[in-house]
Amino acid sequence: MTKNGKGFCLWFTGLPSAGKSTIADILTPELRKRGVKVEVFDGDVVRTNLSKGLTFSKEDRDINIRRIGFVCDLLTRNGVNSIAAAISPYRSVRDENRKLIESNGGAFIEVYVSTPVEECEKRDVKGLYKKARAGQLKGFTGVDDPYEAPLNPEIEIKTQSEDPQTSALKILSYLESKNLIPTATKGCSCGCQCGK
Ligand code: ADX
Repeated sequence: MTKNGKGFCLWFTGLPSAGKSTIADILTPELRKRGVKVEVFDGDVVRTNLSKGLTFSKEDRDINIRRIGFVCDLLTRNGVNSIAAAISPYRSVRDENRKLIESNGGAFIEVYVSTPVEECEKRDVKGLYKKARAGQLKGFTGVDDPYEAPLNPEIEIKTQSEDPQTSALKILSYLESKNLIPTATKGCSCGCQCGK
């Protein structure tokens, strides 16, 4: 939470299969364990409810990202933290969300999961790169649709050189350093959490 009692919004952005959801899924229970109130907006999940029916045209992607930003703002201005994990390929609408959230006192933290496209394609978690290469899926981000990387992200995560647990820890450390979350309970030498 900020000094003024507002929340933070961790805004993950990156190519499909970059690792956004994986890191968010590790981070979320860690935050909750520390008593941090947080809500998660995963691109795939949002597209089954809040943004059901939207396509992957630039116009619809922008609507999708604006909607997620709108809800994150409602939460952060009421002291609840949020995590967004959508491709969010366009810089201008990400910046719009930053402005909105910051204008209401929230902390907007852009987390660029910068896995290169070759690596994402190797992972191809849902087999969609393969489909896109085969011409069965048009307008797939990273293949025949644009991705605009952040220019000044607060955090950059290089998933090729570290595992998702390490990435999640890095983000926790960043939040601690900005006094947005309480620090972890110190472990003890006997391993029982007695604090000694
Ligand atoms: S965004 O561009 O609007 O931010 P979002 O994160 O909500 O995208 O959704 C991305 C997910 O939709 C991908 O993980 C993938 O499973 C699926 N998807 C289906 N078609 C596409 C496409 N053309 N481009 C990117 N992702 C797609």
